[in-house]
Amino acid sequence: MKFDEIIENRHSSRSFKDKKVNFEHILEAIDASLKGPFAGNLNNLKFLIIEEEKTIREIAKFSHQEWINEAQAIIVVCSNDIHLENQYGERGRIYSRQQAGAAIVTILFKLTELGINSCWVGAYQDELIKQLLDIPSHIQIEAIIPLGYEKGIVKKPRKISLENAIRWENFETTKRPTIFKEPPLYRE
Ligand SMILES: Cc1cc2nc3c(=O)[nH]c(=O)nc-3n(C[C@H](O)[C@H](O)[C@H](O)COP(=O)(O)O)c2cc1C
Repeated sequence: MKFDEIIENRHSSRSFKDKKVNFEHILEAIDASLKGPFAGNLNNLKFLIIEEEKTIREIAKFSHQEWINEAQAIIVVCSNDIHLENQYGERGRIYSRQQAGAAIVTILFKLTELGINSCWVGAYQDELIKQLLDIPSHIQIEAIIPLGYEKGIVKKPRKISLENAIRWENFETTKRPTIFKEPPLYRE
């Protein structure tokens, strides 16, 4: 699949078939995320792979999201701020959130390439999930990613327009200043 296709195809899926996902595909997606950038090349992340139905049901309950019961597996993305904080102080904590987010998106894209559907879930009861999975209190849960093979096909709506998201040269300017002349398309 071309990168543009992966971007277009990725969407949040919240309904899954009763068909197992090969754990090696899950490992591939996580491995892809480890090839991304890390501040100071310090990896702050751990990924818990949950395949047991009983645990999936508990996670659905602690997230108050019924649809998660249908997930065939869940990746719980965890981070530890300590090394980044030691290296970068307060900013280290920001880096920790940022590189977790970058890793999560890489996982979603890689799963899409592998034909596996998923959803970034950020709403859950941290403390209950930590207890359930024996996650130490100093570790952050950055996201949970329920995954599987989607039931039906969900049409993806167009996202925010590019024009709305762009500013030129400063935060207020919405049009590209005319002082930047277009270069000729062809020069002899
Ligand atoms: C930080 C974050 C938290 C999210 N939390 C949830 C969630 O708890 N439950 C859920 O169903 N979707 C959640 N989503 C998915 C968004 O609803 C979804 O990405 C958005 O509606 C855009 O749709 P798309 O992913 O299909 O493009 C979350 C996404 C992000 C980035």
